[in-house]
Amino acid sequence: MAPRKLAAGNWKMNGDLAALAEIETLAKNHAGAGCDILICPPAVLIHPAQAVAGGVVAIGGQDCHAKSAGAHTGDIAATQLRDAGATHVILGHSERRADHGETDADVNAKAQAAHAAGLIAVICVGETEAQRDAGETLNVIATQLAGSIPAGATAANTVIAYEPVWAIGTGRTPTNDQIAEVHALMRQKLEGAIADAAGTRLLYGGSVKPSNAAEIFAIADVDGALVGGASLKASDFGAIITAL
Ligand code: G3P
Repeated sequence: MAPRKLAAGNWKMNGDLAALAEIETLAKNHAGAGCDILICPPAVLIHPAQAVAGGVVAIGGQDCHAKSAGAHTGDIAATQLRDAGATHVILGHSERRADHGETDADVNAKAQAAHAAGLIAVICVGETEAQRDAGETLNVIATQLAGSIPAGATAANTVIAYEPVWAIGTGRTPTNDQIAEVHALMRQKLEGAIADAAGTRLLYGGSVKPSNAAEIFAIADVDGALVGGASLKASDFGAIITAL
């Protein structure tokens, strides 16, 4: 069965307590939306965000540690995200892979911790521009998927986001055919790696905005979006939600 679509916002290291008004507005304007709505703010905002999300907007983290407690200064356990009110966590975002050297094995371990804590893991994959230019895109995506998805992954506890690194925050997007090609590959590679591959949500991320959302959402095997910049304002993100 085709999965229910998901509009996910990744605030990255943006936002403050005042910005929670955007989540409140989303909750007010999009109760009864035809898709699920998720905002992943910085960790310090998860608890207050959850309080204004009205059960309409799910709240998630942007990373978690693979262990549930211990001497890991500055890190946050999946169980702590859950305790603060998160239901999801983004893992393996290319900015984490680049800035913190996260490997597929790290992402796999974190996803296991997320699942054990009852969180939905939003696992990100994507090629760099050099990899695309070298014709390596499909191999890169297949390798990242194989390494990052843990045993026990299901359509209910895992979402996959395809984010070409060169499309993030650049205003550039792949062609519709390029997105379709990668999403078809991902759907195929999930067979055997995840329970209910057909029901697993595959998001596209990278310069999604109100003006291109409808076109991207019409592409086969695109079950929603992971949105950065255009998720910061309820007006922009609301238009994307409506396009889904
Ligand atoms: O995780 C979402 C993100 O990487 C895409 O960012 O600003 O291009 O929508 P943006």
